[in-house]
Amino acid sequence: MAICCIGAGYVGGPTCAVIAHKCPDIKVTIVDINQQRIDAWNSQNIPIYEPGLEEIVFAQRGKNLFFSTDVDGTILEADLIFVSVNTPTKKGGIGAGFAADLAYVEAATRNIAKIAKSHKIVIEKSTVPCRTAESMRKILDANSRPGVTFDILSNPEFLAEGTAIKDLLHPDRVLIGHLDTESGKRAQEALTSVYAHWVPKERIVTTRLWSSELTKLAANAMLAQRISSINSLSAICEATGADVDEVAYACGLDSRIGPKFLKASVGFGGSCFQKDILNLVYLSQSLHLPEVAEYWNQVVIMNEYQKRRFAEQVVRELFNTITNKKIAIFGFAFKKDTGDTRESAAITLIQYFLKENANIRVYDPKVPESQMRYDLVVDGGVDQAHYNKFVTVHDSAYAAAEGCDAVVVVTEWDEFKTLDYTKIYEKMNKPACVFDGRLILPLNKLKDIGFKTICIGKSLPH
Ligand code: UDX
Ligand code: ADP
Repeated sequence: MAICCIGAGYVGGPTCAVIAHKCPDIKVTIVDINQQRIDAWNSQNIPIYEPGLEEIVFAQRGKNLFFSTDVDGTILEADLIFVSVNTPTKKGGIGAGFAADLAYVEAATRNIAKIAKSHKIVIEKSTVPCRTAESMRKILDANSRPGVTFDILSNPEFLAEGTAIKDLLHPDRVLIGHLDTESGKRAQEALTSVYAHWVPKERIVTTRLWSSELTKLAANAMLAQRISSINSLSAICEATGADVDEVAYACGLDSRIGPKFLKASVGFGGSCFQKDILNLVYLSQSLHLPEVAEYWNQVVIMNEYQKRRFAEQVVRELFNTITNKKIAIFGFAFKKDTGDTRESAAITLIQYFLKENANIRVYDPKVPESQMRYDLVVDGGVDQAHYNKFVTVHDSAYAAAEGCDAVVVVTEWDEFKTLDYTKIYEKMNKPACVFDGRLILPLNKLKDIGFKTICIGKSLPH
């Protein structure tokens, strides 16, 4: 069997690397139109930081795992084709700001139709709105060569960045949506046989196509909803003297609620949560269900509120002005153990601080300066000259904090927990403030050193 994966990104790369690792009898080729990305996958410096990924890629590459820009040739010889291209939220036109931009999915699908000379199983892997499989089927049927047939499966990805390899090796479930036809069932069995190499049968769940597509959006919306719920409570905690960590712990002990995904934060980020909820909102609106749309939209509104509330707190504590003050930003990625910055709270916070003309000194262990510049200037609308004047990027937390009035922890990187804060304190302006947007720092210790400490969801006297 030969598998082709179109799109060598955060989803396609790790997923198909693990498939190659677990299925030595299958040839897996990951293709992308981006030559630079493919070159990086073929080098010693793979383009995605993900714990455990490098080892697997290095072990399989050249054996049964290949990275190539020969999209057409790979499609031709494949039995199964994963479509894992990007599906960002639309920036313009109908549904702008809510609907997913399916241009890349459509282009990839048209290409499959044009190239294929034999039966193919096409697997929708990218996060897509419900019924995308239906559109893909129409495109394939309308553009294929005579006699060439296709089956479409939905096989959404539930991996989280930073733990992708673990999630892929030990998934809670693998979901396969298929059409209820003979050929649809055969296609489902073919894909099941791939996962069955390492996933227990009872964890491979098969559903109708649309259930599978909706489950992806629903699971992400529910997870994000938990974070917005605990974040909304963090505001109450600060106002009342309750401690959000204690509230989350005590709530989480109720087995019906459970302890996971109740960590209050400066707000959730990442390529999925916001996009998927907005997708769900758009779907609800299209189905004339305005109350449902409003319900889910509130999860996103609460997330924006949390980021704004935290930024305003920083300004307030720094005597209501940060103009020309120096602020160290610890972390730029949307969470630890990834270099991905999509929808990271760091972007929103820095944009806010730059409007106040603060000097920003950033450190992140995995995000390069070029990416920060892209997110803030090209994508984020910050004036280039303003960025050059007010933003500097440093290669350690110590260097970033030097001469600063405040340290703001945005990403929960483990290394921030164990820094020598006495050393940091000595080189900062006084009073020196620490804002913990992730509830990871030993605040009592910091207070003893002399820091003024401010933390989400706790109104500690400082
Ligand atoms: C998410 C889903 O978890 C995954 O199943 C899906 O396939 C893709 O989207 P990901 O975006 O990689 O994965 O990261 P996730 O771990 O879910 O975190 C999302 C955001 O929520 C991060 O910014 C994280 O820091 C934040 N978060 C998470 C919290 O603020 N508190 C929590 O308790 C958990
Ligand atoms: P995700 O997080 O969903 O994996 P990424 O942006 O990381 O998204 O990866 C998607 C990849 O898909 C990109 O590297 C992009 O170049 C690639 N891609 C988009 N359209 C096509 C296409 N038609 N053929 C091949 N690759 C494509």
